[in-house]
Amino acid sequence: MCGIVGFTGSTPCKDILLTGLSLLEYRGYDSAGIAILDGARGMDVFRVKGRVEGLVKLVGNTPLFGTTGIGHTRWATHGKPSEVNAHPHRDCTGKIAIVHNGIIENFSELRTQLIEQGHVFISETDSEVIAHLLERAYEGDMRVAMTETIAQLEGAYTIVAVHADHPDEIVAVRKSSPLVVGCAEGCAVVASDTPALIEVTRDVVFPDDGVVCVLHSGGTVDYFDGDGVPVSPETVHIDWSIDEAKLGGYEDFMDKEIAEQPRVVRDTLAGRVKDGRVIIDELALTAEDIAAIDRVYIIACGTSYHAGLIAKNLIEAWSRIPCDVEVASEFRYRDPIVSPSTLVIAVSQSGETADTVEAVQLARTHGARVFAITNSVGSRITRESDGVIYAQAGPETCVAATKSFLAQVVALTLVALYLGQARGHLTCAQVRMFYREMQRLPEQITAILDDTTSIEHAAEIIDGATSALFIGRGIGATTCYEGALKLKEISYVHAEAFAAGEIKHGPIALVDEAMPVVALMIKSATRDKMVSNIAEVRARGAKVIGIATQGDPDAEHICDEVIYIPAVRECFSAITASVVLQVLARCVAKTRGCDVDKPRNLAKSVTVE
Ligand code: AGP
Repeated sequence: MCGIVGFTGSTPCKDILLTGLSLLEYRGYDSAGIAILDGARGMDVFRVKGRVEGLVKLVGNTPLFGTTGIGHTRWATHGKPSEVNAHPHRDCTGKIAIVHNGIIENFSELRTQLIEQGHVFISETDSEVIAHLLERAYEGDMRVAMTETIAQLEGAYTIVAVHADHPDEIVAVRKSSPLVVGCAEGCAVVASDTPALIEVTRDVVFPDDGVVCVLHSGGTVDYFDGDGVPVSPETVHIDWSIDEAKLGGYEDFMDKEIAEQPRVVRDTLAGRVKDGRVIIDELALTAEDIAAIDRVYIIACGTSYHAGLIAKNLIEAWSRIPCDVEVASEFRYRDPIVSPSTLVIAVSQSGETADTVEAVQLARTHGARVFAITNSVGSRITRESDGVIYAQAGPETCVAATKSFLAQVVALTLVALYLGQARGHLTCAQVRMFYREMQRLPEQITAILDDTTSIEHAAEIIDGATSALFIGRGIGATTCYEGALKLKEISYVHAEAFAAGEIKHGPIALVDEAMPVVALMIKSATRDKMVSNIAEVRARGAKVIGIATQGDPDAEHICDEVIYIPAVRECFSAITASVVLQVLARCVAKTRGCDVDKPRNLAKSVTVE
C-alpha cells in the first residue's frame, strides 16, 4: 500500500525520486522519505511525517548530486506515522538503505534474534528487520544478500535496497506485492507502479515473485531466480502516456477521472459486438464450457464488489445462471461451494488487492475457472487468473474509484450479455439492441456532467449533516451501496445504503429532520414503490434528494431536490446514476474542505490483508 521508486543513472536523481513519489502518493501518504547515494558523502537520507510536499520542502535546495537513490511514501501498518518510522530504513552500519511495501509477518521473531546478535533498531516498523538481515547476509554482493534475506521472510513484500559501497546499483525483489522495472539509455528505474517510471520508459518488466532484479546505472537490469540463475522476464509495453496520469488543468484527480468516464465507457465497449454476437475472446470458453457452468461467483472488495452486485442482476436475468457476489476477505476464509463447473469472476481495479488475489487462488485450488476484470496490466491478479478482461479506464489516481468502477460495470455487463447469448437466452437482435443502447451511454454521461447545477444544490442538503441514507430498489439499491461508500470515504459523512423495501424493517428508526435521504427513483419496474418509500421517509421529516428520469411527473412534488438524468433502460441505470452520486459526493467533500484525492486513512491499493 506504499509507493516505491528507485533510480540509478548518470544524472542527479533527487528530482526524479521526488517527482516519482508524488506520482505514487495515492498509494500511501502518511510519511515519505528518500535515500541518495553519493560516492563522496556516502548516503543522504531525508524523511518526514506527512506528504511528499513536506519532503520536498525538507530537501529544499540541499545540493544532492548522487545519481542512485530510492524513495518511499508510506501507509502505516506497524508503527504510527512518524519520521522515525518513515522509510528508507538503514542497517547498523548506515551503508544499507531499504524501502518496503507489504507486511513481514515474522518480523517479531527476526527482530528479537537480530537484537540478541547486537543489531540496534530505531523504528517500530516490521520493515527495519530487512535492513539488518541484509547487513547480516552481506559479504560484498547485494544480490546474494537479498536472496539470503528473503529466504528468511514470511509475508508479502516489495523490497528495494541500495548499498553505499555500490553507488551504481539497486537491488529489488517482490513477493505478492507490486514491482515494475524498466531501463533506458543510461539509467534504470524501479517502482511499485508504472506512473513513476513511464517518463523513462513504456517498456517494462513485472518480475515474478522471488526474482532478484539488479539495476545498473549504465541502463541495464539483470534478473536472477532464487538459485542465482539468470532469467529473462517478458517485457510489456504500457500503452498510456504520462499525460493521462497528470492533472491537466482539473482541480483534482477525482474531477478529472469523473470527466473521463464517457471516454472510458466508449473504450470498454469498443469492438465487443459484431454481427449481433458478443466477442470476449479473453474468456476462451467453449460452448461446452459455458453449458457446464452451474454457478457464477463474483469476488471483489469495496467499489469493485459493488460493481459485482450490479452485475449479479444482469447475469441472472440474461443467462439464468445463479450468481453469488462475495467480499473477497470473507470468501477466502470460509468454505465456499466451488467446483470445476463454477465460473469465478474476480474484479479488482488495481489487480493487487491481497484478499481478492488470495480468493482467486482458493477458487483455483477447487478447480474453478477464474477470470479477472482489472485495470492494471501486469498486476498480480493477471498472473493468478485463467484469463483477463481489461477495463479500459487508464491510470486512476484518486483513491476513490470512479472511472474504474464504470469500466468494471460495463465490462461485467458485456460478460452478462455474453453468457446470456451463449446460454441461448438472448438473441442476436436483443444483443444488438442492448449494445446500441450502451453506445449511447457516453453521450448521456456527458449530458449529466455538462450541467451539474442540480447536483450542487442537492449537495447543500447533505453539507451540514452527519449522516445520510441512500435508498433504491433492484439495480438502484446496489447503485446506492456505491453512492454511500463514495460519500463516506471522501467527505467523512456517515452514509448507509438500503434496499428501500428494507427501511421499514429497522433503518427508518434513524430517520428524522437531520437525516437527508438520497433516493433513486429512476424509471424501472419498482419506481412506483420508490414513490411510496420516499413518502414514508419524508413523513418522518427527512429531506429527500431524488434522482429521477427526465420527465418524471412526480419527482418535483415528492422530493426536496431533484436531479434528473436521461432515460436509460433499468439494466444500464447504474452507469448513469453512479455518475450523479460521484459528483454529489465530491461536491459535499469539497464544501467540507476535504482532500478528495487522498482521503484520510485510505490508500489506493490494499496490498495487505
Ligand atoms: C473505492 O473508492 C476504494 N478505492 C476501494 O473500496 C476499492 O474499490 C477497494 O479497495 C478494491 O480495490 P481494487 O478494485 O483495486 O481491488
